[in-house]
Formats: sequence, structure tokens, C-alpha cells
Amino acid sequence: MNQTELTESLKDLPLGKISFFKTIESTNDLAGEWAGANVPDLSLVVSDEQTKGRGRAGNKWYTYPDSSIALSLLLRPPQYLKPELVQMYTGLGAISVCDALETKYRLSPEIKWPNDILLGGEKLCGVLAEAHWSGDNLQAIILGIGINITQNSIPLINNNHLPATYLEKHLTNKVIRSDFLKSILENIIKWRTKIEKPNFISAWEARLAYKGKLINLISTNNPIHPARIKHLAPDGSLVVEYPDMTEGRITAGEIHLRPIVDSDEN
Ligand code: BTN
Repeated sequence: MNQTELTESLKDLPLGKISFFKTIESTNDLAGEWAGANVPDLSLVVSDEQTKGRGRAGNKWYTYPDSSIALSLLLRPPQYLKPELVQMYTGLGAISVCDALETKYRLSPEIKWPNDILLGGEKLCGVLAEAHWSGDNLQAIILGIGINITQNSIPLINNNHLPATYLEKHLTNKVIRSDFLKSILENIIKWRTKIEKPNFISAWEARLAYKGKLINLISTNNPIHPARIKHLAPDGSLVVEYPDMTEGRITAGEIHLRPIVDSDEN
């Protein structure tokens, strides 16, 4: 990919500024700098390589040259957005990537709440939605998406508990990254107007991994806690049932889900 190919392939979409880099530290960092500047809604940063890519909860995200899609999209939110709805933007990224995988490649991805996209139970893609505030004013949400496309996208050392996969492993043809990127952006543009509508939550919930299954919840103050995944609440938080049959609502924060393998409970 290069700036010309990218601009040409996205010319029919109502995007703001489009910036392509051969290499960058993190596309989310650059788009984050745009948040407080006079940069229009739907401005896009794409890079072929990231040297300081970031994932959720301070994890590193690796983007090697010619192997992946790394994008950050600047979204100017509505005038007022309840802070608890910021997590809906993680869902926006996840649903949009899933839609693109389903319609373009006939695949069946799942969303490991809140931000991982799985193919065959392995991690293909991560979403990192970051809100930029000026006092009480939400300036922008930066929607960062990283997708493994070729075998070279997989880090040699995987510090994630889930094995990683890449898109071409699930296809017979090579992926044209600019085409796939276009499809993702079309879906984001479509779905962003539906945030807070019931069919947004049902689209997210329909792809929820481990639904009805027992998983472990891991958080800093409560290291391991088994729970069964029930459904999504209208604000995008995860509703679970604990072994004592009480219900809990989890917001994205610092919590992680771990599938429980080889369990009769599943
Ligand atoms: C995760 O799985 O924890 C989220 C990974 C998000 C990675 C993307 S790649 C483009 C954008 N720039 C970054 O530094 N991170 C996001």
C-alpha cells in the first residue's frame, strides 16, 4: 500500500484527511494529536509498520512491514456523549471488522468482549478506542484497529494468552489490504449512526465469543473469578452470572476474559 493507492481506493467515502506512512510509532498517537487540532471528522491514519504500536491495558501491538492493517480513525462524537458510552466505540470497531470479514470473505468471526476479534478461536484483530477529553468536552474518539493479514504479521513471541492467527490462513487468495480497509471503513460509517440503537447491541451480541459458557474473569483487584457470559447490556457492558447465581455487569476497564478449556462446565 502507499498514499496514492490508499487515496484512490477510498475516494468514494466521505473521509476527512487521509495520511499514509511507511512507518510510524503508533497511528493512534498521531490521530490523538489531531484530536485537539482542527482536523475533521473521519480523518484516517494508516501505516505499513508501527514501531510503538499499543494494545489494550498497556500491551504492545506489533505491526511488521507489508503484513498487516494498522489504522486509526478520528471520530468527532455527537455534541454530548455519556462517558459510559465510550466503550460502544470498541464495539463499533469490532462489529465493523466482523461485517467486512463476513461479507467480503464469507468468514465467521467472533468478538471476544470487549475488543478482540477471533477466527477459529484465535486472535486476528484488536481494537483500541481512546477518548480524548478537554475538560468535560469529548473532543474525539480515536478508533485504532490492527489486523494480522499475512503470516509475517504474527510476532515470534506471543505475549497474549490466546494464539494469534492471520487472515490469509483462512483464505485461498491473497488479501488486497486497501479493499479490505475500504470495507471496514464503510461499515464504521454505517454503524456509527446506530450506536445506542438496539440493533447495534444485537449485532455485537450475535458475534460474542463464549456466550453461555463459563470463563474466568481476570482483574487486578480480583485475580480470577469464574462467571458465565449471558449477554450485553444496552451500554455495551457484559452481563455475567456468577456461580452463586447472582448477576454482574462488567465494563471494559482492566478486565480480561480467559476461556476455560477442558472443562465439563463448558
Ligand atoms: C489490542 O488487541 O489490545 C488492541 C490492539 C490495537 C492495535 C491498533 S493498530 C492501529 C492502532 N495504533 C496503535 O498503536 N494501536 C492500534
